[in-house]
Amino acid sequence: MAAVKLGVIGGSGVYDIEGLEEASWVTVSTPWGDPSDQVLTGRLGGTPLAFLPRHGRGHVHSPSDLPYRANIDALKQLGVTHVLSVSACGSFREEMAPGDFVLVDQFIDRTIRGGKSFFTAGCVAHVSLAHPICAELAALAARAARGTGVRVHEGGTYLAMEGPQFSSLAESHMYRDHWGADVIGMTNMPEAKLAREAELHYASLAMVTDYDSWHPDHGEVDVTAIRKVLAANGANARATVAALAGLLEAGAGCSTGCAEALDYAILTAPEKR
Ligand code: ADE
Repeated sequence: MAAVKLGVIGGSGVYDIEGLEEASWVTVSTPWGDPSDQVLTGRLGGTPLAFLPRHGRGHVHSPSDLPYRANIDALKQLGVTHVLSVSACGSFREEMAPGDFVLVDQFIDRTIRGGKSFFTAGCVAHVSLAHPICAELAALAARAARGTGVRVHEGGTYLAMEGPQFSSLAESHMYRDHWGADVIGMTNMPEAKLAREAELHYASLAMVTDYDSWHPDHGEVDVTAIRKVLAANGANARATVAALAGLLEAGAGCSTGCAEALDYAILTAPEKR
C-alpha cells in the first residue's frame, strides 16, 4: 500500500493540532507565493500529518485573499496524499443545525477570485470535477466525526460564495429554494478544484455554525454567534482529525480517481509544455 500522509487545512476556530508527536512548524516556499502560514508537521497516532491554518495563526487572511494555490502546493510538496478541509459553514436546511458536521459531496462555485488553477498559459488541462470529493476519505471522516458524538450528515451541496460579507436575504433564499444548496461557506473553492488538479484526495468537514439569514426563527448570521458555536465545537473537530489519522493508517482506497486526475486532462502537446 502506498504511503499515506494526512493534510489538514484548519478553518475558523481550528488553528492548531493537539497531541502531535515530533511537531515542528516548517516554512514552505512555492512558485505561487507564500502559503497562509507555516505548516505544522508531525505524527498523530502513527500517521504523518501536516496542518495548515487556512487563515493563518491569528486569523489574518480574508477568504478572498487566501493564497489557495500556495496552500495546496505546500501540502503537496510535503508529501501529503489526503487533505481534510475543516471549515465553518451556514446551513440552508432545518435538519443541518448549528453544531452539526456535514461531509459535503458537491459544490456550486460562486466565487470570483483568481488563482483557481495551476494550469495557466503554457500548459492547458481540464480535470473532471463531477465528483469533487474523495468518497472514501469522506466516509472515513464521517466515521471519525461520529465517534465524537456529534451529529454528522453525509452528503450535501456547499455553495462557495465570494464574501467576505455574508449573503443578502434574497441570495440566501435563492441558494436554498432554487439552487438546492445545503450549506454555504467562503473557502472550499477554489481549494477543492486545486486539490483535484494536484491529484490529492480531498474531503470537506463543514461545521454548521448558523442558519445564514433565511430562517424565520433565527436572526441574521453574525460573527459572535459563529464564534460561540465554533468554541463549543473545536474539540470535536480536533478529535475527528485524530480519529481520522488513526483510520487512515490502514489505508482508504479511492473509487473517485483522485490520484489519476491528470491522466486524461492535459491538452497541451508534450513538446510545448
Ligand atoms: N461561514 C459560516 N457561516 C457562514 C455563512 N452563513 N455564510 C458564509 N460563510 C459562512
